[in-house]
Amino acid sequence: MCGIVGAVGVKSPRQYALDGLKMLEYRGYDSAGVGFLSDGIKIYKDVGSPAHLDEILPKDINTDVIISHTRLATHGVPSKDNSHPHLSMNKKISLVHNGLIDNFVELRNFLISKGYKFYSQTDTEIIANMLEYYYLQSKDMLKALEETKNQLDGSYACAIINEDYPDTLFMMRKTSPLLVGKGKGFNLIASDASPMVSYTNEFIELDDYEHGYITKTDIKVFDKDNKLVDKKVTIKDMETFSHDLKGYPHYMLKEIEEIDTVIKKLITAYYHDNKYQFDEDLLNDLKSSDHIIFLGCGTSYHASLVGGRLFENFNNISTTKYIASEWAFHPTFPGAKPFVILISQSGETADLIHCLDTIKKHNLNNLIITNTGGSTLDRNCRYSLLLHAGIEVSVASTKAYVAQVTLLALLAASLQNDASVIDDLKHCVTVVEDIQKNYKPMIQKVASELKDKTNIFYLGRSYDYFLSLEASLKLKEISYIHSEAIPGGELKHGPIALIEQDTPTIVFITDPETAASMRGNIEEVKTRGAKVYTIATKKLFRPEDTMMLEY
Ligand code: M6R
Repeated sequence: MCGIVGAVGVKSPRQYALDGLKMLEYRGYDSAGVGFLSDGIKIYKDVGSPAHLDEILPKDINTDVIISHTRLATHGVPSKDNSHPHLSMNKKISLVHNGLIDNFVELRNFLISKGYKFYSQTDTEIIANMLEYYYLQSKDMLKALEETKNQLDGSYACAIINEDYPDTLFMMRKTSPLLVGKGKGFNLIASDASPMVSYTNEFIELDDYEHGYITKTDIKVFDKDNKLVDKKVTIKDMETFSHDLKGYPHYMLKEIEEIDTVIKKLITAYYHDNKYQFDEDLLNDLKSSDHIIFLGCGTSYHASLVGGRLFENFNNISTTKYIASEWAFHPTFPGAKPFVILISQSGETADLIHCLDTIKKHNLNNLIITNTGGSTLDRNCRYSLLLHAGIEVSVASTKAYVAQVTLLALLAASLQNDASVIDDLKHCVTVVEDIQKNYKPMIQKVASELKDKTNIFYLGRSYDYFLSLEASLKLKEISYIHSEAIPGGELKHGPIALIEQDTPTIVFITDPETAASMRGNIEEVKTRGAKVYTIATKKLFRPEDTMMLEY
């Protein structure tokens, strides 16, 4: 992922461009850049975060049109040359891009045959040069956008400037998100609403294959067939996108500490007046389906593992859970009446959006569970349930994961009208509050013991294995320490070879059915010298364990 930001006519363009990138840093942070129109195109970019960009960018930018970008390297290593904005060979056009161009080799060869030279390893430079190639033929930027759109395979959200249009910012979009913020005397664009909410609450979502432009006073959008479209303006609530750290040192910690509130909010949203509050049509469609396919990526996939199991337990319905990028290449849908549940915090994950094409082609009934109202998946799925977790700024998903699992538990229970889950979830709030209140010093002590290790393993069975997968992802993502989740029963089938003297092994024991087997696993790894940290629920806790969950 990358984050893009752009503006025309905003009072402090430098501040908007840099502040906006800081809010989109969760989308990538290995390099950053700014481009603007001021007697031609000016570009400042480098490896490093938006904070570094602040140091190299002149303080007194005089421009009406600005674009900026924060990058997560995909095509080409993180380097100054590969950073965005990219400039076309004849320096007419510059752009920032979020997405991946699948046919970039073919297009690059085409442009080379037309005399174009390339200075980066990116797919984005191809878009800049394609636009310039067509622009120089017609001297009409909208025509150039139309022609270029026809050539590109893959995903793109682009903010584009052309030195011949000193008052205009062009844009185009397919699969990757792009939002326009409507101002008074200025207009904005960004990958999501967060950079724009302190400037406006009126937004326009660009759809696939749309392109257009913004000036200070005008917004024009053209559809797939290049016809002018009258786009709906939606109002977004500023509080939902608040980036106030509220005294916390970073967003991940703040978001972890919001988990108890998120569970309470979800209970209130989906259960009141002694009954579940889900759309009757959705419940009937789920009940009449004979198989549910869960799709998600990363953390959201881990939530789907839990959700799938809950649906089986409550409703005796068969389920399969897939990593979305795998299903996209080999879609299978067992049963005569399958129903697809997609899970995505952002509602913008390209791998899931690809799945949506297949889902629509086969007319499969579907639901998106997302934290982001107005996102591509929210707008394009048949049913949508919102997580109400508030914006998740941290790259590492925490509160959204808990919200996903909570909402899946509520939905599964509502299908059977089983209200006992509400008490269980309220109890979970108590557990979370107890951890927040009583366990911080212990968690810090364990973290300081682990921070210099090179391999850390997690062990669990059943739900505790699903939890291990998520815990392990979080650890590797945040600490860059190698970590693996191993199902307890699999240890003996190979992975135990990796356990050495002092290898940290974190074990979850929350399920009475698997507790005895997990105790056996602890003995196995201890024999190999592992340093074991056990997290267990009250009833299953033993004095030698590390942490007792109040459950
Ligand atoms: O927005 P999504 O839930 O669709 O994102 C999917 C994954 O990229 C995401 O869950 C990722 O694994 C987490 N940020 C990891 O903490």
